[in-house]
Amino acid sequence: MHKTLVTYFSRTGNTKKVAEAIFAAIDGEKDLKPMEEAHPLDGYSLVFIGFPVQSHSLPYKVEQFLKTIPAKKKIALFCTHGALPGHRLSREAIEYAVVLAAKAKVLGTFAVRGRLSMQALDALGQSPEHQEWTDMAASANTHPNETDLAEAMVFARQIKTLSVHGSD
Ligand SMILES: Cc1cc2nc3c(=O)[nH]c(=O)nc-3n(C[C@H](O)[C@H](O)[C@H](O)COP(=O)(O)O)c2cc1C
Repeated sequence: MHKTLVTYFSRTGNTKKVAEAIFAAIDGEKDLKPMEEAHPLDGYSLVFIGFPVQSHSLPYKVEQFLKTIPAKKKIALFCTHGALPGHRLSREAIEYAVVLAAKAKVLGTFAVRGRLSMQALDALGQSPEHQEWTDMAASANTHPNETDLAEAMVFARQIKTLSVHGSD
């Protein structure tokens, strides 16, 4: 069984775009599904799971999903975020996702920026809780771009190879 699932949660389409690039990069049997349709995971030897960073953390539905992943399932996590690449605010969310999926075998993670509408930025920037990342997020307005998607595809191929030939 070497079937791969790419599943994602996406409110405004950024994470979905990255999911589609990952899906396109993988060879062999595969499915692409929104998170609410992802279960059961029994038929998949590898699951890519994507989500947006939200309020310094993960959307609640993503938290719940990560907790249901069966022990030892090979997974890879990817996220989109408004903050600068590698910034603490985006790293912490993906690190938290790894902790939630602790029973699974996490083969790798990938993070890329995702744009917000000016209206959303203006509205969220009013609240002190969101100010730090919204200051950074204005410059995310061209992302995910072609380079981001090409890098997501490289990530996908490397994880796929690791899942087939890597150690168990
Ligand atoms: C309500 C809300 C909260 C957000 N919180 C954060 C955050 O804490 N840190 C961050 O880097 N980006 C944050 N973002 C930006 C999103 O992570 C980013 O735009 C992402 O690409 C959206 O993905 P989607 O289009 O798949 O929903 C937030 C966006 C929204 C709408």
